[in-house]
Formats: sequence, C-alpha cells, structure tokens
Amino acid sequence: MKRKIGLLMVFAMIFSLAACGRTATDASDGAGSAADESAQAKSGVGTETQAAEAAEESAEMAKRPEEDGKTLIVYFSWSSSGNTEKMASYIQGQTNGDLLEIEPLHPYPADYEECTDVALVERDENARPEIANLPDSVEEYDAIFIGYPIWWHTAPMIIGTFLENYDLSGVSVYPFTQSASMDVSQFENSMDFVRESAAGADVHDGLFTEASDTEGILAYLTENGFTE
Ligand SMILES: Cc1cc2nc3c(=O)[nH]c(=O)nc-3n(C[C@H](O)[C@H](O)[C@H](O)COP(=O)(O)O)c2cc1C
Repeated sequence: MKRKIGLLMVFAMIFSLAACGRTATDASDGAGSAADESAQAKSGVGTETQAAEAAEESAEMAKRPEEDGKTLIVYFSWSSSGNTEKMASYIQGQTNGDLLEIEPLHPYPADYEECTDVALVERDENARPEIANLPDSVEEYDAIFIGYPIWWHTAPMIIGTFLENYDLSGVSVYPFTQSASMDVSQFENSMDFVRESAAGADVHDGLFTEASDTEGILAYLTENGFTE
C-alpha cells in the first residue's frame, strides 16, 4: 500500500513538472496561443512549419563536414616558393586533417620556361600525368581539400588525374589555389575543371587568395564549418 501511494506521488510530481516545463514564451502567449494551437492543429500549419524547419536544419547540417569525419588536404605545388604548400600546411594545422603532397611520376623540369612548355602541352592535350604516390583509396575521408597553383589559366592537369581516380560521390571537396596574376577568371576556369573531374562530389566554392593571407584562409575554414 505504501508503495502504491509512493508511486502515485511520483506520477503526480512528474505531471506537475511537465506542466512547469512550458517556456516563458508559451506561458505569456496565454489563451491566444491555445486558440492558435488548436487552429494550427486543424489546418496542419504547425506540423508543416516544423517539418520545413527540420528539413532546413538537416540541409544545413549536410553542408557541414561530419563532426567525426576525416579530412584530407591534398595538394600539388611546384615552385621553390611552395605557395600552395604553405596554404596546405596552414589548412592542415587548423583542421588537423591528413596531408598529402601529389608527386608526379615524371617530375616537371626544374627550369621555369621548360616547365611551362611541358604544362602547356599537357593542358592542350587534356593529359592526365601519372602520380607516383596515388593512395589506393580515399574512402575514409568525408572532406577533401584540393590545392594547386594556376597553370596556364586553369588547374594543372595532374589535379584531374587525382580527382578522376576515385569515386567521390557524397564527398565534400574544397578547392584552394593562388597564382602570379590572381586573375579571377583563371580561378573560375580551374573550378570548372575541378567540378568536371570530381564527378558526383559536392564541390564547394573554392578559395582563391594569396598564400600569405592566413586571415582569408581562416575565414574560409570557418565559413565551411572547419573551425569555430
Ligand atoms: C607551368 C606554369 C604555368 C603557370 N601559369 C600561370 C597562369 O596561367 N596564370 C598565372 O597567374 N600564373 C601562372 N603561373 C604562376 C604560378 O601560378 C605561381 O607562381 C604560383 O604561385 C606557384 O605556386 P606554387 O608555389 O604552389 O607552385 C604558372 C606557373 C607555372 C610553373
């Protein structure tokens, strides 16, 4: 008997606590909100609004990298200044992702003019230069940053070799690049090339800024949910 009374008291407490659990806004709405609620329930407006909010929220979540997903920062850099390499290292430091430098199987000539000659032929032939250290798989990554210098008004063809080697469906791809001229139309050409090469991937707006612009790089990372 004592147990029954005890249980009844517990239920009574839970019931009264649940009633108190309404927010201050709920309470201040008073009778008006009760009438609204019943009208909404009849019309289904409330549930539609909630469903729309939930859909919006999940779309927003889908844009962000998975909290526990792995990030790869892969890049190609050729000049002795290592501009793309600097950007990649900074991104790695901020995101704590894995870093991979693309190494061409046949290294480009060390001489600038000679290198530009080779790169121009590759671009005109839409070549896919081989990579010496291509990982077997990138399946473990939800987000891939891909960095490169602008070569001949677009991305180096070796970037196509990397992206086309994998099924990147559902992977978030974040291109980052810089160049001597910082010509935006050349950056846009390179974005078209990345989008074509990373078929099925979710290719985000890329980052085109000077390698020394750590503030801009950080802002980009924050916009895309990689840093607070
Ligand atoms: C083969 C080749 C082609 C290039 N083509 C362009 C170009 O079309 N437009 C441009 O602004 N800079 C061009 N550049 C300059 C590079 O984009 C620039 O030097 C960049 O900072 C190099 O980055 P890295 O240090 O990561 O190699 C070219 C450089 C090379 C070697």
